[in-house]
Amino acid sequence: RQPWLGLIEQYREYLPVNEKTPVVTLQEGNTPLIPVPSIAELVGRQVRVFVKYDGLNPTGSFKDRGMTLAISKAKEAGAKAVICASTGNTSAAAAAYARRGGMRAFVLIPDGYVALGKLAQALLYGAEVLAIKGNFDQALEIVREMAETYPVTLVNSVNPYRLEGQKTGAFEIVDVLGNAPDWLCIPVGNAGNITAYWMGFCQYHQAQKCDRLPKMMGFQAAGAAPLVTGQPVAHPETIATAIRIGKPASWEKAVAAQQASAGKFHAVTDAEILDAYRLLASEEGIFCEPASAASVAGLLQVKDQVPTGATVVCVLTGNGLKDPDTAIKHSHSKFKQGIEPELLAVAEAMGF
Ligand code: F0G
Repeated sequence: RQPWLGLIEQYREYLPVNEKTPVVTLQEGNTPLIPVPSIAELVGRQVRVFVKYDGLNPTGSFKDRGMTLAISKAKEAGAKAVICASTGNTSAAAAAYARRGGMRAFVLIPDGYVALGKLAQALLYGAEVLAIKGNFDQALEIVREMAETYPVTLVNSVNPYRLEGQKTGAFEIVDVLGNAPDWLCIPVGNAGNITAYWMGFCQYHQAQKCDRLPKMMGFQAAGAAPLVTGQPVAHPETIATAIRIGKPASWEKAVAAQQASAGKFHAVTDAEILDAYRLLASEEGIFCEPASAASVAGLLQVKDQVPTGATVVCVLTGNGLKDPDTAIKHSHSKFKQGIEPELLAVAEAMGF
């Protein structure tokens, strides 16, 4: 058995790297593809459902796939500093990989709309965190201009190396299933990841690693669903702060992937997201963040359209530990506090 050395070593032949590229890695990738029978049962008709649990990457999200490549290439080009706008996960990944590669990391975040764990990560990894009184779309506009004027490399998904790295998620799914799934359900915010997955499936198809391509099913939060309505959203709102985005940078590429794959964009409400979020945790033991649960919420919303016997993969993009506030606030579990430290008191609280 070969040890796993990270996705650049694993998929080197499919990636824009050479022997001289300094590989900055935390051994990301190789995340599990987990069957979720309770979700499959809700869909019915012998459909097989798996989740690609990308929250198990080193910084807890799929962004590590893109960041290992973006930071390695930035280092190769001699960059001393990187910058990104972020709803949280990109900032954590950029910070971790930049610092590991010996670079400064500047991150712009929407003040008050980044989940606690993500902010904690960016700070501890040693990023220079700038919270702006605006949303993600405004932050992205600023960092794009910043990178044109100042000596900082942009590591948002408009950096093509980000998508190159993230396409390996599709490779891993095919490597495990032996083929592409029939459907790929994925949350969509800035629309980089759906674009990257489609690139990955197409490249693997061309290399004859699979003999079909999945329908790309993109799910947005109802309050931030520009790809569903066809219009940018000036003031996006959703409990899934990771995908609180009104003007996705990869808009055209995502639409191209959806059209070429005969897929669809749908909106899921915050209530549907929270239902799927709780269901995954309480029925399957899988803790993802709210934005990630949009993929499962979306599948359940359109379950009657899934062909009988189909194989479906839902991408769980981030770890639930990223956002402890939402978990505590929206859990339906019993939480009894203030119990006396005595056997009888505990037994009574247990209902015996
Ligand atoms: N899921 C999670 C957990 C995310 O953090 C993001 C994006 C997405 C899904 C959507 O992916 O943008 O490629 O369509 N997070 C970015 C960030 C915007 O700054 O961390 P996308």
